[in-house]
Amino acid sequence: MKMTRRVFVGAGAAMAAVAAGQLGRTAPGQAQNAPRGDRSTRLAQAGGVVNLYSARHYDTDNDLYQSFTNRTGIQVNLVEAEADQLIERIKSEGANSPADVFITVDAGRLWRAEEEGILQPVSSSVLEQAVPENLRHPEGLWFGLSKRARVIVYNKSRVNPAELSTYEDLADEKWRGRLLTRSSSNVYSQSLVGALLEEHGPEFTEEWARGIVANFARPPEGGDTPQILAAAAGVGDVAISNHYYYLRLLGSENPEERAAAEQTAIFFPNQRDRVPTLTSAAVVC
Ligand SMILES: [Fe+2]
Repeated sequence: MKMTRRVFVGAGAAMAAVAAGQLGRTAPGQAQNAPRGDRSTRLAQAGGVVNLYSARHYDTDNDLYQSFTNRTGIQVNLVEAEADQLIERIKSEGANSPADVFITVDAGRLWRAEEEGILQPVSSSVLEQAVPENLRHPEGLWFGLSKRARVIVYNKSRVNPAELSTYEDLADEKWRGRLLTRSSSNVYSQSLVGALLEEHGPEFTEEWARGIVANFARPPEGGDTPQILAAAAGVGDVAISNHYYYLRLLGSENPEERAAAEQTAIFFPNQRDRVPTLTSAAVVC
């Protein structure tokens, strides 16, 4: 996904705020009170390091960290692993955890991290200007860096896009035996269910989930990409997937993957203000 300049500014500012707060070992919320430039300079002179625990593994992120170091002199010490492993690691490291910033994907994981009590609030006018209010935690526990959409990918020769409308509609019996999705144990699925719960309440959502299960083309297996490949192969007609998996196939060097993307198309259902998936940085206690 193309990252906007604002995203980079947001992430850079997040790390600067964290570096200032954590390395100076100030109390939560104090970092913004001190002149940022002075702290950054002092940290750089002291060979400052920000310990970044990230569940993202993209080249664009490495470019971002490098430009942060170039601008501030603060080194980025990167620890990469799966999000749930990083949360466990931060918990087991406890009060002595060296982690300063945690970057993860999906609102569901942010919620888990918040529930575990491993996040610390940050107040920063730079971050508040760079990140819209609906994409950050109300008390500054996390800030969104980029958006990802959960979309419907459909087989172009088997589905008329005029048939597609909403996530809710995927439970309609017209999709019986035609729907492909990954397991409900995955956080992407859980966040979508969470968004529906928030909007419609438990009764509607339970009914919706029963409709979804009744519409399965096959029992859920694999991640999002296998759902798109199965839609392209005609195993089912519509697949629920994050948008970038489709784009990844479209840009693949593997001709079979490109052909699968060309056999399918992407449909953005009713998003409104929902952000089922979000990449975010959070400050660790
Ligand atoms: Fe993903």
